[in-house]
Amino acid sequence: MTTGKESQQGHGGKEGGGTVRPWLRPDLSLEQRVEALLSEMTLTEKVGQTHQIANVDASLNHDLLSSGGLGSALTASGATAGNERDEGVRVSAINAAQRVAVRESRLGIPVLFGRDVIHGHRTVFPIPLGLAAAWDEDLVCRTARLAAAEATQDGVAWTFAPMLDISEEPRWGRVAESLGEAPVLAGRLGAAMVRGFQGDTPGESHTIAACAKHFVGYGLVGGGRDYETVQVGENTLRNCHLRPFRAAVEAGCATVMAAFTDVDGVPMHAHRHLLREVLKGEWGFDGVVVADWDGVGQLVNQGVAADLRDAAAQAIAAGVDIDMVSGAYAAHLAELVEAGLVPLDLVDDAARRVIRLKIRQRLFEHPYVASTTNAPGPRTESRVLAREAAAASFVLLSNNPTRSISTRDGTHKGPQEGTQGGAQKGPQYAGILPLAAKPGRVLVTGPFAQEGEALLGTWTLDGRAEDVASPAAALRARLLDGAIIDDGRFNDRTLHLVREADTTIALVGEHPSRSGEANSVTDLGLPAGQLEVLRAISALGKPLVVVVFTGRPLDLGEVLDLADAVLVAWHPGVEAGPALIETLFGDRSPGGRLPMTFPRSGGHLPSSTLARPTGRPVSPADDRVSGRYLDTLAVPRLPFGSGLTYTTFGYGTLRLSAREMPLHGGSLQASVEVTNTGSRPGREVVQLYLRDLVADVTRPLLELADWVSLVLDPGVTGTATFAITPAQLAYYDRTMTLRSDPGEAVITVGPDASSSVTARITVTG
Ligand code: BGC
Repeated sequence: MTTGKESQQGHGGKEGGGTVRPWLRPDLSLEQRVEALLSEMTLTEKVGQTHQIANVDASLNHDLLSSGGLGSALTASGATAGNERDEGVRVSAINAAQRVAVRESRLGIPVLFGRDVIHGHRTVFPIPLGLAAAWDEDLVCRTARLAAAEATQDGVAWTFAPMLDISEEPRWGRVAESLGEAPVLAGRLGAAMVRGFQGDTPGESHTIAACAKHFVGYGLVGGGRDYETVQVGENTLRNCHLRPFRAAVEAGCATVMAAFTDVDGVPMHAHRHLLREVLKGEWGFDGVVVADWDGVGQLVNQGVAADLRDAAAQAIAAGVDIDMVSGAYAAHLAELVEAGLVPLDLVDDAARRVIRLKIRQRLFEHPYVASTTNAPGPRTESRVLAREAAAASFVLLSNNPTRSISTRDGTHKGPQEGTQGGAQKGPQYAGILPLAAKPGRVLVTGPFAQEGEALLGTWTLDGRAEDVASPAAALRARLLDGAIIDDGRFNDRTLHLVREADTTIALVGEHPSRSGEANSVTDLGLPAGQLEVLRAISALGKPLVVVVFTGRPLDLGEVLDLADAVLVAWHPGVEAGPALIETLFGDRSPGGRLPMTFPRSGGHLPSSTLARPTGRPVSPADDRVSGRYLDTLAVPRLPFGSGLTYTTFGYGTLRLSAREMPLHGGSLQASVEVTNTGSRPGREVVQLYLRDLVADVTRPLLELADWVSLVLDPGVTGTATFAITPAQLAYYDRTMTLRSDPGEAVITVGPDASSSVTARITVTG
């Protein structure tokens, strides 16, 4: 929250006689303060709290502000702002607008200023999908905390993050903003992000309100085309897509944003059942539901509302408290109430929630931005964190192709029941990485070599290209004359340089403008032309490391064959270069694991760990995926959770503290010994998957339930221990009731979703 030195003065602060207005009294409870203010408000003022515009201006919007007609404002340049640059927030403009609201309006209610602070603010961290690859709640929390501190300096009091759309559809560009495909991973990391943004207590200085978005099902857009309609039943929503939102709400997330899409014919901005009954009712969410950009207005385009007035009536009834930029509430709500078409209670509920948020965030006490200038460029400590986060997000896919983790040869690596341990992970001999300390001449080539902007990723409104430390600069700093730099503009020259170099690092992948909102693709291959260049480089037979910058899972089948090592680096942020070069040279080890399955192609979708059993499963020895294709294998190219590092790990036998677990109050421990069998220290992410064998509805074949990170020195054995409870097997049944059943379940522990050790347990009634 902003930490203003100016206290609230003028109209808003004291009554004529000098008594402090009751909603400002710290001795009253939150709800007493909320009700005190609400009882003073006219209908128009209540509607004002539900009205949000973009880029407020104290002069242009003077009447709106002084009449109490504006509850919140966002700073964004347009409807798909994540792909665009803007001029940043002007702190003086925020304070000027706030002064009008606080000093000139009758009740002096401050305006809440929001902006998309998605993966860092001025200090840009890896894209959320990259952060998710670190499988590290503490890291995610620290990046959000730092982003919040920088954002408050720019007058931002509310961010529209975390994005919690379960993402198993890589054609959809917005997977870059997501925390991956697994409800448990997205839920835990999302909750950590909420804690980072919001701090431990609402309204602490240097914190901002968070927003879990987009509620709900947006990740299921048809064909991966952004904004498409969504066909999904409530059972799948409850057992999968709603779960990270629930985790965020339980972590105290202040706000939730409705999704642009419909769910089985009902647009989310008009979805009374999911917003009002489930989120606000069943879950007891007392925060604010905000529309997405023009989401209320778009009810007209979606063909469920005749006009904006109708849209306003439907959205307020559904439980949308703030109308982002459509103007429908401001134009029509008061009149709809007066005409008896919208009950006053609905407007009261919305206004009450906005006021509650503002009081909780201590906006009345600190309405102004304390700083007079914007956040400066990243400080040294911020860069340290940005470098740590970038390196932690990198996923090593292969390191000498003969023993890559890929299942591209189609060989099935498990899970097989009854496996008595012995899963072995990683190359058996040293790969090309890490590069030797004295590697001779190293060429870094490709469009990302000297880039700034393209390494920041989508949704980096306040990042600056000049803040980015590029791969070329980092390589040059390390090797001086031994570094050869090439931007890859002339392929023929690149081949000359490859011949001169001892090792080539080819930087390929997507520009961020190919991912993010409204950027869907059908082809999951590298952008046009890049594969040809890699083929030509590879044909020269010299050591080749390929680094892939991407906002989505790509089909990397041929790339894995062409290169001696492949590293997925996502879009890493301001410390991209040093994090990459330090990792390639072994100062750091790649720590990431894939948070989304990498399918074989766009024709293989869906391809993820969300798959549930069909009536006719194909033999596991043939192809683990239930249905099959005639022309290709259906197993993923790279399984969820996979990633190598510079050492190897051996898995021992899966041990259970008991074979039976009582349904009520029971628990058991599953543990596995993991040995660092290589010659370098390393971090292993040991993953626990569960499967309920007989349930009331079809349950996932392999659902991530937990993970443990072990950092082990060479030769050292550690134990990953998981506490398993019936709650982890709980699910919503045909009547949408949460339950756990007696019966058999399969526990799978391993380094990814395909190579693992399993055991059966029985839940006893
Ligand atoms: C996006 C949201 C974003 C909002 C405000 C919309 O286009 O879908 O994710 O928070 O704009 O910028």
